[in-house]
Amino acid sequence: MPGDTGRRVVRYLAALLSGGAAVVYLLIGFEMIRVVDVNPSDMPSMLPFGLAAGGAFLLGAVLLLLFDRRLLWILGGLFQVMAIVMYFAVAPQRDPSFEPWGIGLKVIQAVLLVALAWLALRPSQASPCGGHPEDPAVNTVIVYATRTGNTGTVAEAMGAELRALGAVEIHAVEAAPSLLPHDIDLLLVGGPTEGHGMTEPMKDWLLRIDPASLRERPAAAFDTRLTWPRLLSGSAASGIARRLEERGARLIADPESFMVTMKPELVAGETERAAAWARQLAEVAGQPSRNPVHA
Ligand SMILES: Cc1cc2nc3c(=O)[nH]c(=O)nc-3n(C[C@H](O)[C@H](O)[C@H](O)COP(=O)(O)O)c2cc1C
Repeated sequence: MPGDTGRRVVRYLAALLSGGAAVVYLLIGFEMIRVVDVNPSDMPSMLPFGLAAGGAFLLGAVLLLLFDRRLLWILGGLFQVMAIVMYFAVAPQRDPSFEPWGIGLKVIQAVLLVALAWLALRPSQASPCGGHPEDPAVNTVIVYATRTGNTGTVAEAMGAELRALGAVEIHAVEAAPSLLPHDIDLLLVGGPTEGHGMTEPMKDWLLRIDPASLRERPAAAFDTRLTWPRLLSGSAASGIARRLEERGARLIADPESFMVTMKPELVAGETERAAAWARQLAEVAGQPSRNPVHA
């Protein structure tokens, strides 16, 4: 499993655990679960405790779903340690000292602690390794269509370049998800020019993609086409860019074409040009104050 996918799985599992703990604490708060053996009339209200703990774990679940920030995971881990230590510290004053719900919660918290420690200690692939240390990571999704492989080669060249700046997912359009991850900074979409425009699988995906995943997402379109004048060749990229924009994406560059011969084979130097184009876009996406890229 690629490292970034692994991190996402761990984050989502941890979010599930945190959400589960939140539900149990809320049920304790509303006294639908009893954890102390006291006459109900003598028992202090569990509501403030249940709401505070349930709210904290719910917040944790939301943060785990939306962000990947080491400081958050360190603070979350410390919170678990504190909760586990306090549980055992007050056990002698509790009656019963230990019962199944409390122990179950501590097991959930212990697993959550391991997950948070893993997230905090393992370097994220999303952290920049080739870029400037102060630059934020740029996480990219590239979706491409291809008939004879050239657009795939272009997409891979872009991906190889961008992996130095952050996490990269590359999808062939037929298998591309219609929901994009929350934490991507750049979406690149490209395909071959056929009959002056884009191919059917690309049209289908652009109709299928959830507009909520595209809203305000920095994006750019590319294509491969013959080295004819643009008026004769047409360009899939301009159609892709138009659809992306119509569906809410924020275009940060003019559509770009990479040239193929009649064979079709990429013209010499086009993969390098594709890599340089992608890097330029990642720099714009990583620093929104910079100007969009115009040809
Ligand atoms: C059915 C078909 C129609 C095509 N129409 C065009 C066209 O209108 N303009 C153009 O520049 N190239 C056209 N081409 C060439 C493709 O753009 C070229 O084969 C493609 O960029 C190669 O990319 P791929 O290997 O990713 O499929 C066409 C190719 C095919 C197979």
